Amino acid sequence: MSKQILPELKIRNKKINVPVIQGGMGIGLSNFNLAGSVAREGGLGVLSSAALDRIVSARKGHKVNSREAARLDVLDAREISNGHGAIGMNIMVALVNSYEDSVLGAMDGGVDAIISGAGLPFSLSEIAKKHPRFEEVALIPIVSSGRAAEVILKKWEKTNRMPDAFVVEGPLAGGHIGWRDEETAMAPENRLENLIKEVIDVCFAWNLDIPIIAAGGIYSHEDILHYLSLGCSGVQMGTRFLATHESGANDEYKKMLVDCKESDIELASKPGSPCGMLFRVLKASPFYQEALAHARVPKCDKGYLLNKGKCPAKENNETSFCICNGLLASVALAPTEKNLYTVGQCAVKIKKIDTVRSLMLELQGA
Ligand SMILES: Cc1cc2nc3c(=O)[nH]c(=O)nc-3n(C[C@H](O)[C@H](O)[C@H](O)COP(=O)(O)O)c2cc1C
Repeated sequence: MSKQILPELKIRNKKINVPVIQGGMGIGLSNFNLAGSVAREGGLGVLSSAALDRIVSARKGHKVNSREAARLDVLDAREISNGHGAIGMNIMVALVNSYEDSVLGAMDGGVDAIISGAGLPFSLSEIAKKHPRFEEVALIPIVSSGRAAEVILKKWEKTNRMPDAFVVEGPLAGGHIGWRDEETAMAPENRLENLIKEVIDVCFAWNLDIPIIAAGGIYSHEDILHYLSLGCSGVQMGTRFLATHESGANDEYKKMLVDCKESDIELASKPGSPCGMLFRVLKASPFYQEALAHARVPKCDKGYLLNKGKCPAKENNETSFCICNGLLASVALAPTEKNLYTVGQCAVKIKKIDTVRSLMLELQGA
């Protein structure tokens, strides 16, 4: 395929020059510097609300709560963006205790979009409605099937506010993916192309003309053209932005990412993430190795990521492990713990750490 100029992406009333969303990456990986730099290059840079109270408190040198942390992170990213592009915040449904405060705090800070997955964001429109900026902020669920899109639409219909876009995330993505067992996740019917068609069909049936954003395994300019040709209006990418100088990943993380081969990447399930969804990891991550050996005593002392209000890793180290501590250690916020690294499957193609500027130009086919 030849190089082509990419069309702009319009979500709600916001025009985004480059139709690339840098996906939210917790904990602390899509920090204000990364998201602000992506926005500065004309894309939508996305912060992560995960453990933001700890991260921003450490950065500012005084204690802030989740709402204030979200507000300050948006302001800091906006400053780096120099007024260009757009800033979003990724708020995972599984972050039960801080969900509402993060939504409202991001809106206080002037965020352009809230992107929410890792569970179905049934309450997002209702919560956002409490804020005076409700009409200005794009609300974007992440789904992995047409059925998930449909149940969200049924729920949101009652609040008189429909989603402003759907991110459709396939099984090759980094972080959590929307399936509980590997066989189902990797079944041919769950290829990203098929999921996109399902979601487009649901939107058509609901007479809803909104952008569909493809995510999971997208690497190149040609990949972006491919998804645009299938009816998408843009893409969301995580792993490629993880491999930039601006991301919050530490040097060891970036080195392992650049060096990894297919056999180095695994979908953690037993033990897996406390929220029950498959979680893609670098197998050699020291924290994951410890979990595989059941060498960690069951423990949950952070309590960010919950499953039906509880963390199963508190009682049991066979089926789940405490990913919060491993992820916090990777951004120097749990000094006595080992590191845990998550990547997408396209990490195997990455050969160097780049700047956001050069990556954004490459993705535009320059
Ligand atoms: C290191 C890493 C951390 C991630 N963390 C989150 C997260 O906290 N919340 C979320 O909804 N998605 C998360 N994701 C998914 C991304 O937002 C994005 O949808 C995904 O990376 C797209 O797939 P790709 O990695 O193949 O580009 C994460 C992805 C990566 C690589």
